[in-house]
Amino acid sequence: MENAVDTVTLKVFRYRPETAPEPEYETFEVPYQEDWMVLDALNHVKDEMDGSLSYRWSCRMGVCGSCGMTVNGEPVLTCATYIEDLLPGPIRIDPLRGFPVIRDLVGDLGDFMAKLPRVKPWIIRKEEEPLDAGETLQTPEEVGAFRQYSMCINCMLCYAACPIYEMEPDFIGPAAIALAQRYNLDSRDHGADERMDVLSRKHGVWDCTFVGECSVVCPKDVDPAGAIQRYKVTATMDWFRSLLRPGRSG
Ligand code: SF4
Ligand code: FES
Repeated sequence: MENAVDTVTLKVFRYRPETAPEPEYETFEVPYQEDWMVLDALNHVKDEMDGSLSYRWSCRMGVCGSCGMTVNGEPVLTCATYIEDLLPGPIRIDPLRGFPVIRDLVGDLGDFMAKLPRVKPWIIRKEEEPLDAGETLQTPEEVGAFRQYSMCINCMLCYAACPIYEMEPDFIGPAAIALAQRYNLDSRDHGADERMDVLSRKHGVWDCTFVGECSVVCPKDVDPAGAIQRYKVTATMDWFRSLLRPGRSG
């Protein structure tokens, strides 16, 4: 029975501010195939039923990070979520929590884009080497030290799962901290102190109460909750060391 189809009910969040000031849910009865993901069903709606449905996607293979939505209450990549796992339905699809909705399932991620540069997610060198000095080589162990944190695809599932970000939008948030950690742990980088200045301040790592949901929903096993806890340990050690510095009296 190759290509046999059944149907599933999608209950989709719609918000079209130009015609309706209040959001509503629209129901679609979608024929699907055994190997379809939620994104395939949304694409079917857009191609065959209602071309005005708005949502983001690009790679369809868990790489670009753009297809994150809330499916049955959970933040997921819709290109990596099987319909079969959600049967018998209906399947409810909402935008990611914590971000203002622009239209339908499209959230405004500008807040993250504004926060990200504050943690300086790039290699900072004390002194730049001349180009003719050649590559800065790393051992496999040195790459392994930061590799996990470099897997982030900026999908924002961790922000959508974080109850602190929902209550305290100024919190710099899990992915930004994980990316800061990615560069701190890179043997070529000398920028940890500059990043610590940002992350040990208000709305940095100390806003996190270690709910841990960010790591649970992360599709790339980045473990932002672990990155935040490591950062807290480093910040605490730095503070103790500063107390012991000569010239500092108690
Ligand atoms: S840390 Fe994980 S959940 Fe958060 S943005 Fe990166 S890949 Fe997505
Ligand atoms: S479409 Fe790229 S991660 Fe889902």
